[in-house]
Amino acid sequence: MARALVHDGLMPEGSPLAADPHRAAIRRLHRAADETVLAPLLALASLPPEAAARVRSRAIALVEGARRAHTPGADVSAFLAEFGLGTREGVALLCLAEALLRIPDAATADRLIEDKLAGADWQSHLGQADSLLVNASSFAFMLTGRVLSPEADSAMLSRTVRRLGEPVIRAALRQGMKVLAGQFVMGRTIGEALKRGQESAEARRARYSFDMLGEAARTEADAQRYMASYRDAIGAVGRASGGRGPIEGPGVSVKLSALHPRYEPTKPGCIPALVASLTELAKAAKAGNIGLTVDAEEADRLDISLDIIAAVHGDAALAGWDGLGMAVQAYQKRGLAVVDWAAALAARNGRPMPVRLVKGAYWDTEVKHAQVQGRADYPVFTRKAATDVSWLACARRMFDASPHIQPAFATHNATSLAFILENASGRMFEMQRLHGMGEALYAGTDCPVRVYAPVGGHEDLLAYLVRRLLENGANTGFVHRLTDPEVPAEALAEDPVAAITGRSPRNLRIPLPRNLYGAWLNSAGLDLGDPVEAPPVLAAIREAAARPADAAPIVGGDRIRGEAVPVRDP
Ligand code: FAD
Ligand code: 2OP
Repeated sequence: MARALVHDGLMPEGSPLAADPHRAAIRRLHRAADETVLAPLLALASLPPEAAARVRSRAIALVEGARRAHTPGADVSAFLAEFGLGTREGVALLCLAEALLRIPDAATADRLIEDKLAGADWQSHLGQADSLLVNASSFAFMLTGRVLSPEADSAMLSRTVRRLGEPVIRAALRQGMKVLAGQFVMGRTIGEALKRGQESAEARRARYSFDMLGEAARTEADAQRYMASYRDAIGAVGRASGGRGPIEGPGVSVKLSALHPRYEPTKPGCIPALVASLTELAKAAKAGNIGLTVDAEEADRLDISLDIIAAVHGDAALAGWDGLGMAVQAYQKRGLAVVDWAAALAARNGRPMPVRLVKGAYWDTEVKHAQVQGRADYPVFTRKAATDVSWLACARRMFDASPHIQPAFATHNATSLAFILENASGRMFEMQRLHGMGEALYAGTDCPVRVYAPVGGHEDLLAYLVRRLLENGANTGFVHRLTDPEVPAEALAEDPVAAITGRSPRNLRIPLPRNLYGAWLNSAGLDLGDPVEAPPVLAAIREAAARPADAAPIVGGDRIRGEAVPVRDP
């Protein structure tokens, strides 16, 4: 089939796509119609009625157990429920956190703080949730909001504090962020995090994957700094692992975007550089006999991430170490094809691959990007139940692909967890949760659980925090609904296969990118990240750029998707 595509001119000869039918399937499914993609996933995720009933009762029991075991204030769910995106304050906090990431100087940061925090009603959140975290954060943000509000009771106080300066306000903000960081982050340094992982018998029982906070390096200096922190972390985790190996011992998770400032599909030069960096880290992980998992990031980066992972996984110098793993996002329409690709790679190299199945943390970004870029369709599902079905289907495929794949299932959702427990049938697997989330859910199980444990300072926390706020602030999110006593356990245990069967697999309230403006069609964008669509366009751009400025006048045009590309008079 790959040959036929090459002959059809759809694939450049010599590209990984041409040689690998799994890569071809991954490309075909990238923005395929939901209806087409979902049908086989539904078949794979459906259980016989008795098994589905068992999953449901187990999920209800897990929900009830988690609600009983939940200690208010023990994790971030109360904070997230209180500051969901349905509140003006939640939105202010989110915008602020997201924007502060990009502000290099204190003066501009202060102006943004003023713009975002003034006028929000932080006081109404005080005492709303029985959680120290909510109250401490509300207080810090309320303080800033009040100080800056033009309608503040005490105009005099407001003016004085204004004059005293924004450092006070920034200090309050920092305090709020510190409280948040304390919940999400396992330690400021890897040493601190490892120590915390030893503090109680419960902490010692967990497996950890330490994630050095920091991603999307903007400069070479950033990338070097992040690389150094990964190097140190891998060394320290290796020394602390006590020879437990990649499966049972602690490991490290890495984001490739942290290791290169131009980790972009249009910059193929990043691929060899990232292969070199990841290989160096993998060799260090092999030396310490620990696992190293590559996190999944934006959909546009998936293809190049597979190039990089394949190159490192096949490196003969890593023979004898089975610790190089990767995360797969089920919300992508390509999720199942990526699982198949990973299983085939592992089989080909004769080396099992740990795969962490997640639903995906960049959903809002993916939807917005596809709209802005005028894509034909979305790379992700637009109904939550469709993502859940895809996750279940991928999970079953991963079980079937063991031992080539060593399955790890990351979720805080009781129904997803109950499905895994039903399907495991004695096969090896582990569950995974995020630090600061899901403790109560997993307290009701005795399966192995790995905790993804972010490590770092608050300056590197914000991107991670924004994703947690988006994920948990969404009223469709499991964690959000678990903390809402109005939602009955039965509703939380709904089978996603049943929920979507007979309904549109698409969310009809999210129009296709081209229909965003109703009758006025949105313009179609070029996908410069697509390994087939991009090369001729980039070649034409390079050719045009290489032409002398005073070249012969333009007399005609080649049309590439509606854009006139100048050609010289023959
Ligand atoms: P649920 O509430 O059941 O699911 C929420 C998820 O459903 C959302 O995150 C989104 O993926 C999806 N969703 C929500 N609304 C819609 C919609 N309208 N249409 C379609 N889908 C929708 N994420 C990454 O991207 N890369 C990683 O490498 C990664 N590593 C992780 C490691 C661990 C250990 C854990 C626990 C999570 C990791 N995540 C990663 C984050 C993960 O994607 C989210 O935590 C996960 O999606 C939440 O799913 P859930 O089953 O806990 O909750
Ligand atoms: C994230 O950083 C956990 O990798 C996931 O959002």
